[in-house]
Amino acid sequence: MMLSGGTVTAQLATVNTSPHGQRGVAQARGSLVASPTWDHGADLAAAVQPAEGEEPLSGGRITCGVVRVGDTVRRPVTARSAFVAELLGHLESHGFAGAPRYLGLDDRGRDTFSYVPGWVPARFRTWSRSQVAAAGALLRSLHEATRDSRLAGAHPVVCHHDPGPNNVVFRDDRPVAFIDFDTAAPGHPLEDLGYLAWTWCVSSRPQAPPVQAQAARVRILADAYELDRPDRAALVDAMLDRQMRNAGWWRRQLDAPRPRVADGELILSRIAWSLREHRHTAAHRLVFATALR
Ligand SMILES: Nc1ncnc2c1ncn2[C@@H]1O[C@H](COP(=O)(O)OP(=O)(O)O)[C@@H](O)[C@H]1O
Ligand SMILES: [Mg+2]
Repeated sequence: MMLSGGTVTAQLATVNTSPHGQRGVAQARGSLVASPTWDHGADLAAAVQPAEGEEPLSGGRITCGVVRVGDTVRRPVTARSAFVAELLGHLESHGFAGAPRYLGLDDRGRDTFSYVPGWVPARFRTWSRSQVAAAGALLRSLHEATRDSRLAGAHPVVCHHDPGPNNVVFRDDRPVAFIDFDTAAPGHPLEDLGYLAWTWCVSSRPQAPPVQAQAARVRILADAYELDRPDRAALVDAMLDRQMRNAGWWRRQLDAPRPRVADGELILSRIAWSLREHRHTAAHRLVFATALR
């Protein structure tokens, strides 16, 4: 399913990836994309059937049972729920508007969030320069809102750890909010920037823009984030690192207890894709590094 995006053209990867930051401070996860169904097996799917008046939100394709109810979103609780609730409360009290609000547990024991109006892309594509810049500025605001906070612990900030376009709400063709904070955890900004630069600007697909144009977008992202010189020099390595973490996360899914997040074939294709992206980035390392100078 390709979603319309105004001036943007659908050219990049046909799949979304996902994070690979830390889940529960240790484990990351990956996301995929396709038709709006959950791929977690009949048992789990039956256990999370939406009730009347609940609209399934399956575009993320990782978490079973995400539903919209009016102007709220309900999600099964996870080991990270307490952290996410605290983080979203912190962001709200620090004036960061680019995230849902946490509204507590509903009568079925699910986490409840405010529904952020707009649309969430189900697939990667080529984003305009202004969209990339807006994503970079949004990420910077998120990091600044958590910098040196108790939630960041010994790390500089709290990272989202999965800031791909598939976890961003767009309004009027502009990225305005992150969603899906399950993987959020203390981290270094480059972890998010590496992931964001990769998933918003870089693609190994033959029909993707030329590498020079991809590198120009990475530069736009770094400029919009106001990335300092030492971190600019480290950004290509950060992208490469996130690509390998992505491959590693998918590899671990092969051994995960069932129901898995996807069937074996899909998991293998995600691993292969992550490694292809890594080879592409490594092969053009100089082009990316030069654009960032
Ligand atoms: N707070 C929200 N506001 C608007 N849409 C949301 C919100 N939370 C989730 N969604 C929608 O639900 C989908 C799945 O949610 P997400 O939390 O990303 O789950 P997953 O873990 O499967 O990626 C998203 O792709 C998005 O379309
Ligand atoms: Mg998601």
